[in-house]
Amino acid sequence: MSISIKRENTEFLYQQVASMILEMRQTGALRAGNKLPSLRELSQSVQVSVPTIRQAYIELERQGVIEARPKSGYFLKPYVNLDSALKKARPVHKPHVVNKQSLIEEVFDAIHAPGSVPLGIANPSAARPSDKALARMMRRVMTNAGSKAVSYGPMDGYLPLKRQLALRYLEFGLQVNPDEVLITNGGQEAIAIALKCVAQAGDVIAVESPTFFGVLELIESLGMMALEIPLCPDHGIEINDLTTALDKHPVKACLFSSSISNPLGSFMSDARRAELVALLETHDIPLIEDDVYGDLYFTEQRATPAKCYETKGMVLTCSSFSKTAAPGYRIGWLLAGKYQAHARRIKRALSCSSPLINQWTLSEFIASGEYDRNIRALRQVLKCYKQRAIALVQESFPPGTRISDPQGGGVLWIELPSGNDGSELFHRAIEHNISIAPGALFSCTNKYKNCIRLSFGVQWSESIENSIRRLGSMVTV
Ligand SMILES: Cc1ncc(COP(=O)(O)O)c(C=O)c1O
Repeated sequence: MSISIKRENTEFLYQQVASMILEMRQTGALRAGNKLPSLRELSQSVQVSVPTIRQAYIELERQGVIEARPKSGYFLKPYVNLDSALKKARPVHKPHVVNKQSLIEEVFDAIHAPGSVPLGIANPSAARPSDKALARMMRRVMTNAGSKAVSYGPMDGYLPLKRQLALRYLEFGLQVNPDEVLITNGGQEAIAIALKCVAQAGDVIAVESPTFFGVLELIESLGMMALEIPLCPDHGIEINDLTTALDKHPVKACLFSSSISNPLGSFMSDARRAELVALLETHDIPLIEDDVYGDLYFTEQRATPAKCYETKGMVLTCSSFSKTAAPGYRIGWLLAGKYQAHARRIKRALSCSSPLINQWTLSEFIASGEYDRNIRALRQVLKCYKQRAIALVQESFPPGTRISDPQGGGVLWIELPSGNDGSELFHRAIEHNISIAPGALFSCTNKYKNCIRLSFGVQWSESIENSIRRLGSMVTV
């Protein structure tokens, strides 16, 4: 530990010692959990008496910065305790028109600004990119298939890929005919088609709160209304809240990430998901399940897709390779149940087909076994980065901050101490070339203004760590 005490300074010596330890915490030279030097060691290294050092430590202990552990010495405490967990949002009482497009545009500009630190984008595959394996597969496809691979593909997708996806659902005991799989341009197009199948402008769509902003943007562009159902950080949608909402409002469809949600990272158990499907079936309400994060779970087992519990063909499952392999490939899929014929017509009208070369390459990737190996490794990396990100937030954000404990995916949801505004922090962070997602994006009402979403699905580096620390220093107590 290197600190220097200035005797000419007007501050008391013990205050100077305390300030220097605080500064070392701020810069990361001292981390949460680090042991502080003994009174005697520090007294010798800074040439100040042992009683003065003791007084500094007592002051820091009083401020909640350090803790004395019996027979072990003094340790630096985290700023934010994980037991200060998030609370469930309050229910919203009526459907809302969505008006988020301009804020979304602003955030997208920041995310894609050259050189910005990407803490605002949810791109978990960046934590362990598959680009090299995919490039190898794509070269092989091009060599073997030539111009066929870059021609127009079948409207509903490349058959070998559809077969592989159908096969993957068999693992859950769900028999899917490859014809029932509609390949789309990412999960976003799958959700757009699903929404168009089941609702029209003016209809009310029940969504999670907080929810992925892409869902709100779609609802806005289709002229529909959103009814927010609060998510419980521990177990997802509360069936009681949903039952109340269905009794009160003319909900046309529900759109939920029923396995792992974004931005909360909550995980719904299979039993609750089965209950959810049963409830919606009694009301004849379609469920659009957004399962793009389903494979990136940190729990013991993957969630069973809601589709496995249905009996009426009213669950529309949307997913993609964006979170597990390559978002830039823009390949997703939709299982539209009884809306299949309608979904195919919409897909044809919207985009004719999805890039054949990308489907072909992904199909080779799956067939080689590398896709599954990669997902297993990606989950481990993300789990580790989640802990790192949580530890950094605990160290560098002020007391009063609350953090999610995501059960999958690649993002942390952070509630800032009251008085802080996530959008203001977003603008200040841009000045330092750091992109984050402000909480206001994730609701169509005025909720979550004091929240931000931070990605830990990134290529971890010192610059990521410094950026999280810098963000923490911008938040006021
Ligand atoms: C919850 C959720 N659903 C859907 C999507 C869209 O996925 P894709 O990139 O495959 O269109 C995203 C992307 O961020 C997401 O987070």
